Amino acid sequence: MMREFETKDSNMMIGGVSAPEIAREFGTPVYVVDEARIRENYRKVYEAYSRYMDTRIHYACKANTSLAVLRILEQEGSGIDAVSIGEVRTCLKAGFTPDRIMYTGVNVSNRELREVAETGVMINLDSVSEMERLAEISPGHKVSFRITPNVGSGHSAKVITGSKGAKFGIPLDQVISTYARAKDLGFDIKGIHAHIGSGGQSVEPFMDMVEVLINLTNEIAELGIDLEFIDIGGGIGVPYKPQEEEMDVGEMAMNLTDMILEETDVRTIVLEPGRYIVCDAVVLLATVNDIKDTGVKTYIGTDAGFNTLIRPAMYDSYHHVAIANRMGKACTRKYDVVGPICESGDYIAHDRVLPDPQEGDILAVYNAGAYGFSMSSNYNSRPLCAEVLVNDGQAELIREAESIEEMWRHQIVPKRLQR
Ligand code: LLP
Repeated sequence: MMREFETKDSNMMIGGVSAPEIAREFGTPVYVVDEARIRENYRKVYEAYSRYMDTRIHYACKANTSLAVLRILEQEGSGIDAVSIGEVRTCLKAGFTPDRIMYTGVNVSNRELREVAETGVMINLDSVSEMERLAEISPGHKVSFRITPNVGSGHSAKVITGSKGAKFGIPLDQVISTYARAKDLGFDIKGIHAHIGSGGQSVEPFMDMVEVLINLTNEIAELGIDLEFIDIGGGIGVPYKPQEEEMDVGEMAMNLTDMILEETDVRTIVLEPGRYIVCDAVVLLATVNDIKDTGVKTYIGTDAGFNTLIRPAMYDSYHHVAIANRMGKACTRKYDVVGPICESGDYIAHDRVLPDPQEGDILAVYNAGAYGFSMSSNYNSRPLCAEVLVNDGQAELIREAESIEEMWRHQIVPKRLQR
């Protein structure tokens, strides 16, 4: 089931702090991060798997790369799945040692490959081209390979990555020859990796993918390459709707580890959950600026639009919303929640039954932790918003809202155009 929040005098509480209070103190829009929930989610997935196998959780930090969030996960003992030199360096800055970070790029430049190799992190190669280039740049590097499992799953076609013909990974019929070539090139080959996609809610595609990885692992063993780990990627879905079922992580762990232990000599499993760890640990708070009854629809106009949270506009994603200062109040009609961006595709929620709002109310958007802040933008020249960490009744700023001046910082006006 979707996460519910405590309420106190009709106010939503998060981490022991009143959400409307946070909005007043720090301004809106603001992402509010619940530290205890991140720790809990991390432990849930780690414990589910580590009962059966040596387990390494590589948090997919693309979901949220805020330094405070990374610090929490570093303390928990997590590793990192990084997709860019920017993510690698951000995680190093947050205190992760290189041996805890794995880099999985796609369509990587030589420059980035060189910079990543210099940090010493393991590189999960996505193509034969990347392998040949890395052999020149960093001979003998610690590597694994992302393969295309021909199994895909996800909440939207835009986030399914494992299907046949996808741009990601080594095509299935080239995997064995690629490992053989990697051995000839003298790479330090550690594992095999696949990622089916993001936010799917069923276990079957994971089992199908693991079957593919197992068969390949055994064929690779025949080349005299004994892999240390099988990396099953990320993609564990979470419930976004109130009555939606949760994926049974315990059962998933039991089934997948059982397959690997029975059918291979590999004793370490790697997972790369992003969404599962941070999604329900964060709510986005926005202020209701405007209410408009068009006779067709009634709009709640907030200060958060697709510049702040792009998932509804981009993927048609459902995010549950509530009025954080009217929790538990009677609902009388349906509203559309929309933002300040000058496009009709700018929305947060469609046709939601909510208590009648007033200007100045605080709207809470649930499940905003994964790909919320990290996909936000400056569109319409709106500065990126603040992030606040809550824990044990305390609220602390972990990211200042950007200023308008900062949005100009990197721009250069040629002399002849200056005034
Ligand atoms: N590993 C790899 C190689 C990935 O490409 C991804 C996500 C993950 C792990 C983490 O997947 P997760 O556990 O978070 O599902 N922006 C989209 C999601 C894009 C996911 C991209 N890759 C969204 O907002 O739904």
